[in-house]
Amino acid sequence: MQKLIVKGKKILSGTVKISGSKNATLPILAASILSEKKIEINNVPLVKDVMTMSELLKHIGSGIKVNLKKKKFIINNKKRKFKTVAPYSLLKTMRAGVIVLGPLLSKFGKAKVSLPGGCAIGSRPVDIHLFGLKKLGARIKIKNGYIFAEAKKGLVGAKITLPSISVGATENVIIAASYAKGTTYINNCACEPEIKNLTDFLKKMGVKIFWMNKRKIKIIGNQNLKPVNHTMMFDRIEAGTFIIAGALAGRRLKITGIESKILKKELTVLKKMGINLKIRKNEVTVFHSNKIKSISINTEPYPGFPTDLQAQIMVLMIKANGVSKIRENIFENRFMHVPELNRMGAKIKIKGNLSVIDGPQELNGAEVMATDLRASVSLVLAGLIGKNRTSINRVYHLDRGYECLEKKLKKCRANISRLNY
Ligand code: EPZ
Repeated sequence: MQKLIVKGKKILSGTVKISGSKNATLPILAASILSEKKIEINNVPLVKDVMTMSELLKHIGSGIKVNLKKKKFIINNKKRKFKTVAPYSLLKTMRAGVIVLGPLLSKFGKAKVSLPGGCAIGSRPVDIHLFGLKKLGARIKIKNGYIFAEAKKGLVGAKITLPSISVGATENVIIAASYAKGTTYINNCACEPEIKNLTDFLKKMGVKIFWMNKRKIKIIGNQNLKPVNHTMMFDRIEAGTFIIAGALAGRRLKITGIESKILKKELTVLKKMGINLKIRKNEVTVFHSNKIKSISINTEPYPGFPTDLQAQIMVLMIKANGVSKIRENIFENRFMHVPELNRMGAKIKIKGNLSVIDGPQELNGAEVMATDLRASVSLVLAGLIGKNRTSINRVYHLDRGYECLEKKLKKCRANISRLNY
């Protein structure tokens, strides 16, 4: 096991270049199952979940090759014999693996994929995924913890209205429809930038895709795909995390390699909190901010405030003057970081899906426990501003979604190190 040790109260300054997006890379890797032409993916984030997905692809027969040095994945599925089974052993740590269901079913007419199971933040059902695939003609049954799906004559385009907004379900159905016969309309889509990056990738493959409005998409399936060279978009959650780190402990912290227009909501919230920002098209610089103002926010599907930054903005609210509130509307159990922050001296109360943060509070370093990916990074942020030392246990949660976090923080003068224990 490993832990991170953070010595607090260091001023952050310098430049951080943001890595490629984990949540854009995972569906694009799944979509590669559809093609037998060469695929080159650049700027891939070398984080645990992406490596797990590459293992899953290898396991089912993909011709994926990983170039760690160049952060490049080359995929060549020509003449590859695919297995259409995605086992629990590979999905139990990475629920997003369920996203291979759509491509396997669409390409091979059948798939047996483990039900992903729940995690710390929620039960993570897949009913909306299955709803959409059934509309495309799939026959689906659940048995012994697995999804058995088949479409003997292949999937057929359909008019689908998803019952509620789901990132993964939207991605699964878009990928499946991309190889289906005929035209598919999907209403009530999630419209996260990562989904836009997926449709950009699929268009390069030769699939005709049109965003008809914010949440409606038209897909004309294509089974004669083209070679693709794609560069991953930046990780907007990593970018938001570092901008908040700068707001907490920065004197002048520049975050580069981003598209600030994608961070519109987050930057608006930070400006309302009185954070001193210089915003350019592809970079944001955070300066020391004297008085941080309290605020109340809701987490919402894009373009609302992202649930994946909820734990991080909460740490900034601890430093704000007055009472702040966060209503978590996406996941049913995403306040696991609160008890750990309170052990460091925060004064946060939970009332159902509402957290009430009383600020400003001084934090003291402590031994804390990470519970999920974004909660773990909020404990690192708390360690940056806490007195003395904070040690964050179960740092494997962090490694799922942040590439070289301590190296990037050290480069900005944080005092952070990793220990084996
Ligand atoms: C994606 O998860 C992201 N993961 C999550 O990021 C992110 O928090 C989430 O979208 C919301 O933005 C990846 O992209 C790999 P959803 P996903 O389907 O697709 C319910 C991180 O930290 N739901 O949009 O699983 C679900 O329970 C991770 O990087 C159903 O009820 O999220 C949740 O309450 C954490 N039935 C809500 O919808 C379904 O079939 C939104 O989930 C699917 C989802």
